[in-house]
Amino acid sequence: MKKFKWWATLIVSAFLLVLSACGASETSGGGEKKKKLRVVTDAAYAPFEYQDKGEVVGFDVDFIKAVAKQAGYELKVEHVGWDPLFVEIKGKTADLAVSAITINDDRKQTYDFSVPYFLSTNKILIPKDSDIKSAADLKDKVVAVQNGTTGQEAVETLLGKENKNVKKFKDNNLAIMELKNGGADAVVADNTVIEEYVKNNPNENFIVIEDDGAFEKEFYGVLFPKESKLKVEFDKAIKEMMENGEYAKIYKKWFKVDPDLTELKTQQ
Ligand code: ARG
Repeated sequence: MKKFKWWATLIVSAFLLVLSACGASETSGGGEKKKKLRVVTDAAYAPFEYQDKGEVVGFDVDFIKAVAKQAGYELKVEHVGWDPLFVEIKGKTADLAVSAITINDDRKQTYDFSVPYFLSTNKILIPKDSDIKSAADLKDKVVAVQNGTTGQEAVETLLGKENKNVKKFKDNNLAIMELKNGGADAVVADNTVIEEYVKNNPNENFIVIEDDGAFEKEFYGVLFPKESKLKVEFDKAIKEMMENGEYAKIYKKWFKVDPDLTELKTQQ
């Protein structure tokens, strides 16, 4: 009798285990089926998103995977490029975009953003022997930027909108290439990206200078189509990750230091 009970329990629990495993792959939370999300990005912006052996990797990729997991979603991250990612989100052919995208009023008219998840500012990348000392010195210089970024906007505020000295590129790597080849005197882009570039390419003799008078603080957000239902779930997950240490873990993996969460949290 005793022996029978033992076997019965084992069989029943094995059966339950199989059942719950099947369930986990298709449903989560309240049991409704959650689809696999399509995430688009411009993977030419290391260390946030770049391609490594055909795979899209970076801080943003680890971040969005962790957020999705927390919210109960699976996702697929696809490199489509900077301008196309906005087209896809507007047309709802993708569910969300993560690409070091600055939250600003202009974009908010067309898209929804998550709560802020990263603090950034534009800075200036120049050769070590350049005579550029501040943003004001860019006036009569040729400046390379990624088209459609806050960097372009900041430089056009300084040099004027139709100024031919502002060279616009499809991605930021091409802007840096132009500087390297002598076709530009400076690149203006997000601080972390150009600082990382200088660190990884010490032989190229570039430096980064800052100018908080000219360049504002910016916050990155996850981009959604307007009225996307995902925003509420993702905001909740992002806040939870900032509380439970998961955000700090990913941040430390990529930036080797602990994040300063106080400023981000005041913005939420
Ligand atoms: N933060 C800047 C902006 O939103 C530049 C972002 C560029 N991102 C990229 N993956 N190329 O305009």
